[in-house]
Amino acid sequence: MSIRLPFFNKKQKKTEEIKPDNIPEHIAIIMDGNGRWASRKGLPRIAGHKEGMDVVQRIVRAAVNYKVKVLTLYAFSTENWKRPKPEVDFLMKLPKEFLHIYLPELMENNVKIETIGEFSSLPEHTRKAINYAKEKTKYNDGLLLNFALNYGSRYEIIQAMKQIVSDVDEGKLKKESIDEDLLSNYLYTKELQDPDLLIRTSGEQRLSNFLLWQLAYSEFWFTDTLWPDFNEEIFKQAICDYQNRKRRYGGI
Ligand code: FPP
Repeated sequence: MSIRLPFFNKKQKKTEEIKPDNIPEHIAIIMDGNGRWASRKGLPRIAGHKEGMDVVQRIVRAAVNYKVKVLTLYAFSTENWKRPKPEVDFLMKLPKEFLHIYLPELMENNVKIETIGEFSSLPEHTRKAINYAKEKTKYNDGLLLNFALNYGSRYEIIQAMKQIVSDVDEGKLKKESIDEDLLSNYLYTKELQDPDLLIRTSGEQRLSNFLLWQLAYSEFWFTDTLWPDFNEEIFKQAICDYQNRKRRYGGI
């Protein structure tokens, strides 16, 4: 006698549905793999960044749809200045191009634009485009689209420590009052809750100086997919997997 097992293949597998009551409120993404995507297609690296820019908007739409509160995207790190100048120049033009194309839709979707990182060292044209978008979207209270631009976590923590020391020296702060909440309030992210979910694309499994303090209790989710190939379905899978995890914050 043979036992008949149910037959499944990938196509037939029912995609899990997202539970609307357990959406990660803050999702952070390390958008990696643009260069490799382009090289594999015999294209210049910047073609990968351009494609990656359009993926950003597709994921923003999905995040709006799922009512995610904050989406923090690692768009340029403090280490990325080491890249060839033409690539850096291209990356610095992307925010303007992105906003030129998508700001009307972002407004329609009630998206608010913010940034974290050392803003003042960005080129003037980049700052101008972003400042315009920040001003235009400042009363929007839907998704907060937060670009990490010229962002480095160690730098952020050192700046916070310097400011704390100076506030203690000036008598504005007592050494005894330094605790986790206080330090959090000296970071770029002081207005934000910590990420619930971190996604990194392209198969790399490291943090690359991204939100080291803020990710202490976040769930990590990695995919081999290169950022330009990332899509709504994979994003949904990341959220489904997040919903199947048990967050214990060190408890049992
Ligand atoms: C890492 O891939 C990606 C970046 C350093 C840039 C990310 C930027 C975008 C996805 C576009 C941003 C869009 C806006 C709107 C600002 P990589 O170049 O390191 O890829 P590789 O590891 O394959 O070389």
